[in-house]
Amino acid sequence: MAASILDGNKIASEIKAEVATEVKAMAAAGTRPSLAVILAGHNPASEIYVRGKVKSSEEVGIYSEQLTPPDTISTEELLEMVIKLNQRDEIDGILVQLPLPSQVDSKKILMAVDPAKDVDGFHPVNVGFLSTQRPGLVPCTPAGILEILRRSNVPIAGQQAVVVGRSDIVGKPTAMLLINGNATVTVCHSKTRELPGVCRRADILVAAIGRAGMVTRDFVKPGATVIDVGMNKVTDRAEFDRLFAGNARREETFRSKGSTLVGDVHPEVAEVAGKLTPVPGGVGPLTIAMLMANTVRAAKLRRGSRVPAFAGERS
Ligand code: GUN
Repeated sequence: MAASILDGNKIASEIKAEVATEVKAMAAAGTRPSLAVILAGHNPASEIYVRGKVKSSEEVGIYSEQLTPPDTISTEELLEMVIKLNQRDEIDGILVQLPLPSQVDSKKILMAVDPAKDVDGFHPVNVGFLSTQRPGLVPCTPAGILEILRRSNVPIAGQQAVVVGRSDIVGKPTAMLLINGNATVTVCHSKTRELPGVCRRADILVAAIGRAGMVTRDFVKPGATVIDVGMNKVTDRAEFDRLFAGNARREETFRSKGSTLVGDVHPEVAEVAGKLTPVPGGVGPLTIAMLMANTVRAAKLRRGSRVPAFAGERS
């Protein structure tokens, strides 16, 4: 039986509607949550992401501000920008879009963001809060993955979860959230031996590797829930045929645009998995929805309000 497809756009809309309701209630009490986004230079992908973040802020009623320094900016100049945002009391969330220009010391910049305003959840203080189950700010994509599981009634406690990929932004925090949700968690990476066999043990398989269609049907236990975090552009004909041979709709996109977007999961997995997130329209939309949720959460935490626990987190 074909996997049921988990609709990320629908879940993201639900979350954004909930955030909009909270923002309205806060506005009625005299506060407007606000987000500052720093976009340094002209990375085309980053420009698209940031546009989406600003547009969603407007939709849910969050005040947003964009700072666009040139790609020649120095670490010291960028640090100065971050420090000024830290000092502005009316700014609740600060997001520094990555990647930064190569001459900038990214770690130094991310360390400078006030942890209370760190809506990306990248600061070591928030990483520590997550790993010790204290209320803080959780990275948006991992938080979104947990929301997909929770809102699709996928059980977590006691389940075998396998996360492929150990990045600081996705793999590690996702593993931590699943541990906090009482799953039994295995984290795999490029040195993992017998990768397909390890993945086949998973009730929940999270693919966050960054390699087009690497997770094939032999990685997946029949009926498993598969979460695809990949976003890969396929331009090579042979690679396209390996992934989408016989798919007329994809063929048309590929012919007209010269490329198509594919996750880390091979489309054939839909024949084996129980539940599957599509690409596009799966995890992607959740990242922005959770940024909106984190901005409201930061605004509340900074004002000493009680906040509900996020997925897997103790309040
Ligand atoms: N670049 C790609 N993804 C992200 C993200 O989640 N946050 C930031 N700040 N930059 C990114």
